[in-house]
Amino acid sequence: MKHAEQLNILKELIHQIDTNTTCDAGKIVVNPTSSYTDKALAEREWQVMFQEQPQVIGLSSELPEPGTYITNNDLGAPILATRDKDGRFHAFVNACRHRGAQLTEETRGKAHRFTCPFHAWTYAPDGRLMGIRHGEMFGNVDKACHGLVELPSQEKYGLLVIHPQVDGQVDIDALLGEELAAELASWEFEKSELVGESVIDKALNWKLANDTFGENYHFSVLHSKTLLNLAHPDYAAYREYGRHHRICTASRYLDVMRTLPESEWNFAFASIAAYYLFPNVQLVFVGGMVVMVRIYPDRNDVARSVSRITHFAMPHIKAQLPAAERSVAVKGENVYSADMNERPEFDVSATIELLLSTVEHEDYLMSEKAQVAANGGKLDYFLFGRNEPALHHFHNNYRAALGQPPLQEYVA
Ligand code: FES
Ligand SMILES: [Fe+2]
Repeated sequence: MKHAEQLNILKELIHQIDTNTTCDAGKIVVNPTSSYTDKALAEREWQVMFQEQPQVIGLSSELPEPGTYITNNDLGAPILATRDKDGRFHAFVNACRHRGAQLTEETRGKAHRFTCPFHAWTYAPDGRLMGIRHGEMFGNVDKACHGLVELPSQEKYGLLVIHPQVDGQVDIDALLGEELAAELASWEFEKSELVGESVIDKALNWKLANDTFGENYHFSVLHSKTLLNLAHPDYAAYREYGRHHRICTASRYLDVMRTLPESEWNFAFASIAAYYLFPNVQLVFVGGMVVMVRIYPDRNDVARSVSRITHFAMPHIKAQLPAAERSVAVKGENVYSADMNERPEFDVSATIELLLSTVEHEDYLMSEKAQVAANGGKLDYFLFGRNEPALHHFHNNYRAALGQPPLQEYVA
């Protein structure tokens, strides 16, 4: 992100804190609860948003060297994504061309050749069929025509993007738009390092899971003993990039930072920037690390979803952080200390643990209750406030993609 933009955001957050104001969508809107329960709608969104649309499946740093791979089973056909010996990113259908066995069931790993566990045909990370065991017995097969089925893919700005359809197209620049592409590029994801991952599988529609990242109005209530120590509630610098958006929340360190000369202001520690990438990805930057959340619907149950969460250290961002000397993450206690005499380290693992347990045991737990309410069919709609513009934006884009009209304004 450009330095001037960082300063603008920090100043906006300070202004909001001082004036007790926040971002404003200009109206309250009505979201039908059927959006979280309608099976026919879920089938359409699966087609439109998860089958006919390019999908961000990870960060470049998840394939740190030739031979590394990741898999994805959330988009219909199982996917095997690799980095070949020349460093090129590929995505394939994870199915052997003999009789369809999956080449690997691991989430990630390293292999310079994939040996099918059924009859041991072998494939290179670039998809070539290399060997047919007992080929003289099996018979003559044109190997050149029986490599792994490749899916369209592109790697740019540190993002790994694929298209679930063989004849689909991926154009990351078109997908992000110029401004967001430049902004994401500036974070240099390719320099990040995977430090952990987790999965949250719960009884909530995937959009309810997404909604939880769309506002911080709930921080001082739901997260009063957890995230509230790390961040200010309510205040948010919000902007949209086409179908994507960004919400910047003020961290508690902002209170320390604002007493320093502007030349020492540090965006990465004073703000928690959360990007939403249409349709199902959240990228949350906090204290020199990034957490990616990919949220997928459960095709068999409209009221269930799975969140795949990967956490990355950002050593290049952390290296720019003189503020790190003045900040500390301590679970359950005030996270930031202004004590210049202490030189505590920002504790990445404690912060990740705090974030994940908050999402799982507070946000998603609450959203499960909302799902129960929606399932019950007695509430026709939920309300999205003026202070929740990201929810307006997410649902309106979702609806536009399905050919539905925008959310209706609520008038008291
Ligand atoms: S299914 Fe893979 S070798 Fe037979
Ligand atoms: Fe939350």
